[in-house]
Amino acid sequence: MDWRERARGDQTAVWPRLAAHGRQRLGAAGRFDLRQAFAEDAQRVERFSLEAPPLLADLSKNLIDAPAQQLLTELAQACGVAAHRDAMLAGERINTSEARPVTHVHWRWASNRALAPEEQAPEAIKNIASVVPDASATLADMLSYAESVRADRGITDVVHIGIGGSDLGPRLVVQALRAAGQASGPSLHFVANMDGHELASLLPRLTASRTLFIVVSKTFGTAETLRNARSARDWFLAQGGSDVARHFVAVSANLAAARAFGAGRCFGFDDGLGGRFSLWSPVGLAIAIAAGSAGFEALQAGARAMDRHFIQAPLARNLPVQLALLDLWYRNVLGLASRCVAPYHHGLRSLPAYLQQLEMESNGKGVDLHGRPLAVASAPVTWGQAGSNGQHAFFQMLHQGSDVVPVEFVLVARDAHGLPEHHAKLLANALAQSRALMLGQEGDAPERHFPGNRPSTVLLLPDLSPHSLGALLALYEHRCFVLGSLWGINSFDQWGVELGKRHAGQIEAALRGGALGPLDASTAALVAHLRGPA
Ligand code: F6P
Repeated sequence: MDWRERARGDQTAVWPRLAAHGRQRLGAAGRFDLRQAFAEDAQRVERFSLEAPPLLADLSKNLIDAPAQQLLTELAQACGVAAHRDAMLAGERINTSEARPVTHVHWRWASNRALAPEEQAPEAIKNIASVVPDASATLADMLSYAESVRADRGITDVVHIGIGGSDLGPRLVVQALRAAGQASGPSLHFVANMDGHELASLLPRLTASRTLFIVVSKTFGTAETLRNARSARDWFLAQGGSDVARHFVAVSANLAAARAFGAGRCFGFDDGLGGRFSLWSPVGLAIAIAAGSAGFEALQAGARAMDRHFIQAPLARNLPVQLALLDLWYRNVLGLASRCVAPYHHGLRSLPAYLQQLEMESNGKGVDLHGRPLAVASAPVTWGQAGSNGQHAFFQMLHQGSDVVPVEFVLVARDAHGLPEHHAKLLANALAQSRALMLGQEGDAPERHFPGNRPSTVLLLPDLSPHSLGALLALYEHRCFVLGSLWGINSFDQWGVELGKRHAGQIEAALRGGALGPLDASTAALVAHLRGPA
């Protein structure tokens, strides 16, 4: 099947059958009863568990039965998800609105060290060297530079400046590896927000001569990043810093602008690498500084293991595919408008923020690849917080609120903190929440009644090593791609973020004393209030 001719999920013959099954069997979320489903099927856990080593996923506590799973898998077939995946891997320009290929998978296969024969790329990943011609050499340069920074006793602090996809992935990975005891080297800091409070609170803690700034921006035109980078450079010079080229490095697809800024070392990448998918490239320089080149390569190797699973596992046993189908089931058949992510590991506390960009920027769309309006709902709201903190915030709503929200628990089997009294308690709390959501409880008073039958998934990682983390993040990337593919969406553009940026320029001029006339009445009144008395 040619990927351009693929049918949108809602236009396949499977869709009405899926919807009908949902109405009859599961339509009102309360009718299908998980407790009963477990009682009737001793094999339910095996049937709804999937392995994509090193990850294990237990999907059994979801509002789904075997016929629904079968229909969903048929839907993935009917939509040509595999052909779409193969087109991406072959370097075809599947990002149609920008006429670009989608290259993040290629970056993790463009390893600069020779892969052992059993590790070679699957046949589906074609033309790595022609899709991302410079990737191998760029990664080699970036890793050797990262090692030199780690060895440089003169650099005590590294500040990563970037926002969105140029921030969230590296920030998450560095936090995770640090918490898992897998990071060393200079202190790493991240600055993203245009709000000067973020940078201003960091700078007094730094010594200019001992600080390295990494400016990461695909376009090198993002307002937040340019403002922060310029303010950091002004501060550096005001502190007596003289060698901007040594203390500022850049990572960008716009090398001319990065060089014009004054960065000494500049690492480039291609236009086909989307920001929210970019941590596998030199965008992950901070990761390589924290974890060393071996750690960075292990992260990539974990992602490659997930790529291999995504390419080779049959659709019915394919974890990213089945998770995406479950997402679609909840969104379009059961009409659930959000999903909650609860990582039970302090190192994964930024996972919800990372997923918010990955999922909502990719699939929060209103038209399909051909520009036709979608007929069904697209990306739900992704939200969440690290456990067990979330239990003391929004879990009340998950258990007894009026909305059913599927929860994804992410558990890590082994801890790395050496505090013997903590980890079993943490894991017990996660499993207890998943169990309580399902079982519910008859209450002796209405306010003590728990309806139960509330769905959750458990994703289990053996540890928070770079390898496991790489596999987890690649899983989320592929799931996001599959879900967009089922909806017929281009998951790789983000036109929706442009309009606000244009308005901001006009409003900033007004805030600085410019004319209020061109603004709408509400904005003009607020600007006038912020400007204060004339
Ligand atoms: O928010 C819009 C966006 O374009 C994201 O897609 C991107 O990750 C982020 O801004 C940062 O962009 P850049 O890497 O070009 O600075």
